[in-house]
Amino acid sequence: MKLVFLGPPGAGKGTQADVLSKKFGILHISTGDILRQAVKDKTPTGLKAQEYMNKGELVPDEIVTKITTERIQKTDAKDNFILDGFPRTIAQADDLGAFLNNNRAKIDLVLYFETSDKVAIQRLTGRRVCKACGAIFHLKNMPPKKQGTCDKCGGVLYQRTDDTEETVKNRLVVYKKQTQSLIDYYKEKGILRTVSGDLDVNELFVVMVDLFKKEGLAV
Ligand code: AP5
Repeated sequence: MKLVFLGPPGAGKGTQADVLSKKFGILHISTGDILRQAVKDKTPTGLKAQEYMNKGELVPDEIVTKITTERIQKTDAKDNFILDGFPRTIAQADDLGAFLNNNRAKIDLVLYFETSDKVAIQRLTGRRVCKACGAIFHLKNMPPKKQGTCDKCGGVLYQRTDDTEETVKNRLVVYKKQTQSLIDYYKEKGILRTVSGDLDVNELFVVMVDLFKKEGLAV
């Protein structure tokens, strides 16, 4: 099953992809995570990407498309993957379509997480991430048992540099300008399905699994 998760920052794409990945073994590919790792490793890609990410702007298409298509070519992505945060522009979507077509593959479903700005801002400004294992928490919605410490591995929790209120607001503007048009793009291809990103984590997970079953996708 090959899925794209589309939606504004804070819609819960990463959280749901993580649960699906753990429950059903579907590979979770997050372009944001790959880029953050490159920034941490100070690779040439990371150094270029950092200035865009810090401002909440999109990293140039050619950089993101290259890292994503390279990742999809690995053997563990042959049958199943969730693309979380890619594509984010029409050019990325066109390039992804052409790449998959050349490899006799296709996206089965694009899941659009429809989410209000108010919810997205509350979620992102309260998000905390584990430095060691990447687990996602929220100060109010999904608080760790011990403040500042990851429940899963005991690692230190931190706030992403782009999760300040000012940068979050810019990310939402960027999403509306550059990414929202992908809703119609995939609607026209007949593969877009919409779920409410405002639902709570468990409710949304049940809705998603029901939807996959209705669509005849094996989970
Ligand atoms: P990226 O890391 O992809 O960020 P994003 O798309 O902005 O998405 P987020 O990770 O912020 O939100 P999410 O929907 O995954 O929410 P989450 O599950 O974490 O990208 C970062 C940057 O990298 C971009 O700004 C850009 O610069 C660059 N980039 C990445 N991809 C790119 C591309 N294709 N092209 C160009 N540039 C690219 O949840 C958020 C919080 O809410 C968490 O605290 C969580 O605990 C909580 N939560 C989640 N779900 C629920 C729920 N249902 N109820 C209550 N709380 C919830």
